Amino acid sequence: MQVFLQLGLSFVLLAAQCTPGAAVPSSQCRRQCGTVEIPYPFGIDPNCSLAEGFDLSCKVQDGISKPFNGDFEVLSMSLTEGTMRVLNYIVANCYNTSTRSMEFMGRYTGFVGQPSSPYRLSDVQNRFTVIGCNALYLIADKNGTGYQGLGFSTCRNFSDLVDGSCSGIGCSQTMIPKMMYNYGIVSSDLFNTSQIWEFNRCSYAVLMEATTFNFSTTYVSTTKFNDTNDGRVPMVLDWAIRDQKCDVAAKNKTGTYACLSSNSMCIDSVNDNGYMCNCSLGYKGNPYLPDGCQDVDECRDNPCPSGGVCHNTVGGYRCSCRVGRKLESNTCNPDIGLIIGITVGVVGVMVIIMIVVFWGQMIIQKRNLNKVRQDYFQQHGGLLLFDRMKSENGLAFTVFSEAELVQASDNFDNSRILGKGGHGTVYKGIIKNNMPVAIKRCALVDERQKKEFGQEMLILSQINHKNIVKLLGCCLEVEVPILVYEFVPNGTLFELIHGKNQALQISFSTLLRIAHEAAEGLSFLHSYASPPIIHGDVKTSNILLDDNYMAKVSDFGASILAPSDKQQFVTMVQGTCGYLDPEYMQTCQLTDKSDVYSFGVILLEILTGQLPLKLEGPEKQRSLSLIFLSAMKESNLDAVLVSYVKGQESMELLRGLADLAKICLDMCGDNRPSMKEVADELNRLRKLTTHPWVRLDMETDAESLLGGESTGGYQIELSGYPMGESEDQPINPRSSYYAR
Ligand SMILES: *[C@@H]1O[C@H](CO)[C@@H](O)[C@H](O)[C@H]1NC(C)=O
Ligand SMILES: *[C@@H]1O[C@H](CO)[C@@H](O)[C@H](O)[C@H]1NC(C)=O
Ligand SMILES: *[C@@H]1O[C@H](CO)[C@@H](O)[C@H](O)[C@H]1NC(C)=O
Ligand SMILES: *[C@@H]1O[C@H](CO)[C@@H](O)[C@H](O)[C@H]1NC(C)=O
Ligand SMILES: *[C@@H]1O[C@H](CO)[C@@H](O)[C@H](O)[C@H]1NC(C)=O
Ligand SMILES: *[C@@H]1O[C@H](CO)[C@@H](O)[C@H](O)[C@H]1NC(C)=O
Ligand SMILES: *[C@@H]1O[C@H](CO)[C@@H](O)[C@H](O)[C@H]1NC(C)=O
Ligand SMILES: *[C@@H]1O[C@H](CO)[C@@H](O)[C@H](O)[C@H]1NC(C)=O
Ligand SMILES: *[C@@H]1O[C@H](CO)[C@@H](O)[C@H](O)[C@H]1NC(C)=O
Repeated sequence: MQVFLQLGLSFVLLAAQCTPGAAVPSSQCRRQCGTVEIPYPFGIDPNCSLAEGFDLSCKVQDGISKPFNGDFEVLSMSLTEGTMRVLNYIVANCYNTSTRSMEFMGRYTGFVGQPSSPYRLSDVQNRFTVIGCNALYLIADKNGTGYQGLGFSTCRNFSDLVDGSCSGIGCSQTMIPKMMYNYGIVSSDLFNTSQIWEFNRCSYAVLMEATTFNFSTTYVSTTKFNDTNDGRVPMVLDWAIRDQKCDVAAKNKTGTYACLSSNSMCIDSVNDNGYMCNCSLGYKGNPYLPDGCQDVDECRDNPCPSGGVCHNTVGGYRCSCRVGRKLESNTCNPDIGLIIGITVGVVGVMVIIMIVVFWGQMIIQKRNLNKVRQDYFQQHGGLLLFDRMKSENGLAFTVFSEAELVQASDNFDNSRILGKGGHGTVYKGIIKNNMPVAIKRCALVDERQKKEFGQEMLILSQINHKNIVKLLGCCLEVEVPILVYEFVPNGTLFELIHGKNQALQISFSTLLRIAHEAAEGLSFLHSYASPPIIHGDVKTSNILLDDNYMAKVSDFGASILAPSDKQQFVTMVQGTCGYLDPEYMQTCQLTDKSDVYSFGVILLEILTGQLPLKLEGPEKQRSLSLIFLSAMKESNLDAVLVSYVKGQESMELLRGLADLAKICLDMCGDNRPSMKEVADELNRLRKLTTHPWVRLDMETDAESLLGGESTGGYQIELSGYPMGESEDQPINPRSSYYAR
């Protein structure tokens, strides 16, 4: 070690004491020297730097301004990195062939500083670099009392040297420790270039920036290394505000804290005690000046991924993607979540709108429906009906709501149909108390009928006769009125006469009783009101049979008050072929005698067991009434009588019946008996039957009769509830009248 020191280790004090001062530099201060920017805390003019250590000088060399830190030319400085690049001097050790001795050459032995100066030799960026063969240099700090490091390079043969390789052969690089503020270099004569080297008698040593150095073999064979760089190479200094770390400095109330700018932060120096300032993230500028740190407009460089939109914010920025895209791992990807979200949202909103609209329409429709119901109700004379019902207490008539009837009839299910006719369809229904009813949906009625419907209902509802199907109620809320009748379970007279089980098994006296009961019912209808209530469609299929096979005249839904004006004649034409009063066909005037005519046909059916109208056979043989009348004319009653009555019943009875039928069928209505007379005559004739035990009391008569007959093998199918024209075609003269 003494060997080294002999060669003269000279340290020169360069930097002065660094006294911090937080004064804001004048705007007059020059901030540029040549091409180099001089930011505060550095300064080249008096009172322009933060402290003496930051004072630089701006010298003019060969007409070019250059900043100098002491004797070292400054290349650049960085506020954010806290570094300064200077040109350091290469030292050399050369063999003087004249003097045959080694000579140490160089203006300085190295950069020199004090602990209080801002500068430290960058241990990260600098390497102690030695070039040459058989060269040994020593680097030391603190006047040789501190760190000591060696740089040693040797060569066996020039051909061993490799460009770019600096690892001990012709070139060596050595790291230095932190916290070095000065250094000195000495060379050793133990290794010299006196013997082995012909081309370049010098070896070189310098502390320099590692990244700018690239070894070349010519550095060994020639003086190129020193010549190229003008004897100087870049070296990096770390600078900081010394002696205090951030935690202390930021709290120091003496006002020397250097980080003046808002949005700045303090950073401890990585190289020795001290701190530096830096703008906070998203800010750029000089943190050592008040308001020096300015928001960075990051969007100028558009840091956002393609497709993204940059939004500068104070202290940062944010990227957004177009609608429907999401920023994911720095790319704008389709935002499935958002798309789903939006889709769900839109669908949701639409569903809600649809629900609201639907609901609204429902309410409106319901309102309309209620309105329509009310309209119908009024049209059908519902109010009148209600008024009367109020005044006539205890009326056993119900005005049903549509909903009630829909429920009762299982929404008018086809399986509930009892019968279909020209006047409507009849359904079986169950109303409250499990009471079976027959619900008749009328066929379309015309305006006049509509208006008087309530009135008619009222009258019909008041008819209370054991041989007339009871009208229990109606529903006026609907366009076409619905009538509710008592349910009559045992089929019709038509089935008894013409059905499968035929009249063979039913006694003639029973048929006669039923006919008598039907006549009583019709008689009651005719006498009930004035003008008389005309059934208008008397026929066997409209005579229903109850549990006791008692006759109940039905389907006077069509029967209305006898028409009194011409307008009504037209509209009221109705009836069934074979039963139709020929006078009515001509006059269009339906009278109680029209019912009598039809009843005459029923008597014929009972007598003959024939249908009132045959669709086959010679024309003259089609109408039962014509056949019968011609047989009567020829006094050949036997020819038309049904076989089983011949002989069984007294001829007096049969003849009486035939006579009754004949006058009922008289072409002139006035010549026909009234229904009352028919009933009375039937009552008389019934006493002539061959059953001696038949009593006149009809109630008990029915029961006993039935009892007797059911033991005799009588069976009746419960074949439904045919009302109206289940088999016969109704005449609807209305259309033909209108067709004129
Ligand atoms: C520098 O500042 C000191 C003290 O503030 C003052 O005395 C001196 O005159 C200033 N120098 C110049 C050149 O302004
Ligand atoms: C100072 O901030 C800049 C930008 O934010 C950053 O690049 C740099 O590394 C920071 N300096 C230090 C010493 O942390
Ligand atoms: C060698 O030394 C002599 C005497 O001191 C001197 O004159 C000469 O310039 C030196 N040569 C070199 C190459 O330095
Ligand atoms: C050079 O080194 C050799 C051997 O190491 C030595 O003999 C010689 O004296 C040295 N020359 C000088 C000038 O120091
Ligand atoms: C190094 O030497 C110089 C003068 O020779 C002296 O001023 C300085 O204080 C010394 N430094 C140290 C760390 O001993
Ligand atoms: C150096 O190497 C070359 C070729 O490899 C050889 O010719 C020469 O003799 C060597 N020199 C020494 C001093 O070994
Ligand atoms: C150093 O120089 C050599 C030869 O000139 C070249 O191949 C190499 O890439 C250079 N290395 C660097 C780091 O510049
Ligand atoms: C290195 O170059 C500088 C500047 O050109 C010169 O002053 C110095 O003498 C040179 N050193 C050697 C050893 O050649
Ligand atoms: C504040 O800074 C001054 C000057 O650097 C120093 O003398 C003093 O000790 C510091 N105060 C504290 C509390 O560190």
